[in-house]
Amino acid sequence: MSIPTFIFLILLLHLLFASQPCHLILTSAADGRWQLLQTSIGISAMHMQLLRNDRVVIFDRTDFGKSNLSLPNGKCRNDLTEGALKVDCSAHSVEYDVSSDKFRALMVQTNVWCSSGAITPDGKLVQTGGFNDGERRVRVFSPCSSRDCDWQEIPNGLAARRWYATNHILPDGRLIIVGGRRQFNYEFSPKNIAANTFNLPFLLETNDKGEQNNLYPFVFLNVDGNLFIFANNRAILLDYVKNKVVKTYPTIPGGDPRSYPSTGSAVLLPLKNLKMADLQAEVLVCGGAPKGSFAQALRGNFIRALKTCARITITDPNPKWVMETMPLARVMGDMILLPNGKVLLINGAGSGSAGWELGQNPVLSPVLYRPDKKIGSRFKTQNPTTIPRMYHSSATLLRDGRVLVGGSNPHAFYNFTSVLFPTELSLEAFSPAYLDSKFNDLRPKIITPKSMSGIRYNKRTNIQVVITGKVAENLVSATMLAPAFNTHSFSMNQRLLVLGNDKVTTCGNSAYNIEVTTPSTHNLAPPGFYLLFVVHQNIPSQGIWVKLR
Ligand SMILES: *[C@@H]1O[C@H](CO)[C@@H](O)[C@H](O)[C@H]1NC(C)=O
Ligand SMILES: *[C@@H]1O[C@H](CO)[C@@H](O)[C@H](O)[C@H]1NC(C)=O
Repeated sequence: MSIPTFIFLILLLHLLFASQPCHLILTSAADGRWQLLQTSIGISAMHMQLLRNDRVVIFDRTDFGKSNLSLPNGKCRNDLTEGALKVDCSAHSVEYDVSSDKFRALMVQTNVWCSSGAITPDGKLVQTGGFNDGERRVRVFSPCSSRDCDWQEIPNGLAARRWYATNHILPDGRLIIVGGRRQFNYEFSPKNIAANTFNLPFLLETNDKGEQNNLYPFVFLNVDGNLFIFANNRAILLDYVKNKVVKTYPTIPGGDPRSYPSTGSAVLLPLKNLKMADLQAEVLVCGGAPKGSFAQALRGNFIRALKTCARITITDPNPKWVMETMPLARVMGDMILLPNGKVLLINGAGSGSAGWELGQNPVLSPVLYRPDKKIGSRFKTQNPTTIPRMYHSSATLLRDGRVLVGGSNPHAFYNFTSVLFPTELSLEAFSPAYLDSKFNDLRPKIITPKSMSGIRYNKRTNIQVVITGKVAENLVSATMLAPAFNTHSFSMNQRLLVLGNDKVTTCGNSAYNIEVTTPSTHNLAPPGFYLLFVVHQNIPSQGIWVKLR
């Protein structure tokens, strides 16, 4: 070999190795796909709720000023108490139809800013509270197949003003509304004649002076019927009937706050082994902002968000938080339960805090959390979006398994120019890898029923599916998901039940009958509408709507 050839080879090798890292980044495609559904729905999706007719009710606030969507038929809202426009002919709520990918304007009468909601057992969206003239309102949206249903408002529907409160559906079908700004108590909806509120000193104890860090508490119905309530950096178990704290959980190690404005997120992990007497329930809290981040961000100092998650078995007699580290630090992220029992962390910022102009470093990549894997190998970073979803963004799972993502407006108005993070009016969908066509052989398709209007508790029921590929019968399972009300990085009422399968029978022609047992108690699953999926080797079918009663 001549010397020039040798040098050439060395150079070539050098080039090859030098280019390797780049090459790897370009080709090591992560999971998941993004799709821009709408460049503008005219409003910024701050609050979202999927309804049983696959339409999503979305709203922002009435004091952002004029939105990019007019109210229908020349309607205007005349509101002398309004902080922005006294006469506003623009919409601040829409109904988005998933199947047609179309939307229409809805009309709210009063301010719905930073409010809360839930679906009642009859499938209506009940939204509570807000700001200013909306702070004691209850608003009801009844799903319709036509295009003429709209919000109905109940003045003084609440006993107290509720702004940044959290709702949860109860086993008896009522709603509980917990906390809110300067409200260290809870109440029920519909309210009783005495219009009672019930004191909750825990909310005062977790109300860091000046910063609060206890708003939009993470509330979950435990399998024993009590409510798990997390605020700031710790939690209690509340017997809401007797107004008695029955358990106090330890503080998350490190002590940093996880609720608004140090906004992290939380999920009740999938409830499994539903027939076991000692059924366990676990809660996972992820992200947030170190103590003092809000005050620092106000001074222009954007502190890195928390990179940890904390997991706890809330049914344990001696519960302890177990810490895990995420691949990416995140504040204002959303945690979305997927039909196959995995958790998607999506949206948010890498530094700062919730609040006007207080977040920086958008986190564009979602992260998948797989609760059943060994600790240390549970997270998997997904493909990024191009659109920052900062303060006032939202996300919700759809019946087809995609996650609808919208909103982001860290400004007190609609600001599209001369700001770091312009007001986002767009809607995107994130498709987890389970929707990839390479899994079509494994994917179950539910043939019957198409929907179930009245399934009873603790009953055997049959679902027929088609799976074209080879079936692993022990890896077939049915899951039931309660549709959540999403705002401010928390999905209220989010709950996934793993029904498993009692028996899989082959019916020929790739058809299978799956026998499942419905949940046994209202504590496990409050009555109402759920999405039922069949999952095979982690690949979910499209859901069907079932009504549990
Ligand atoms: C919204 O309207 C404003 C003002 O008319 C305009 O500048 C902006 O481009 C619109 N934004 C979108 C996303 O449609
Ligand atoms: C945001 O929009 C409001 C209302 O249009 C305007 O007064 C304000 O100056 C805007 N802010 C910025 C930073 O452009």
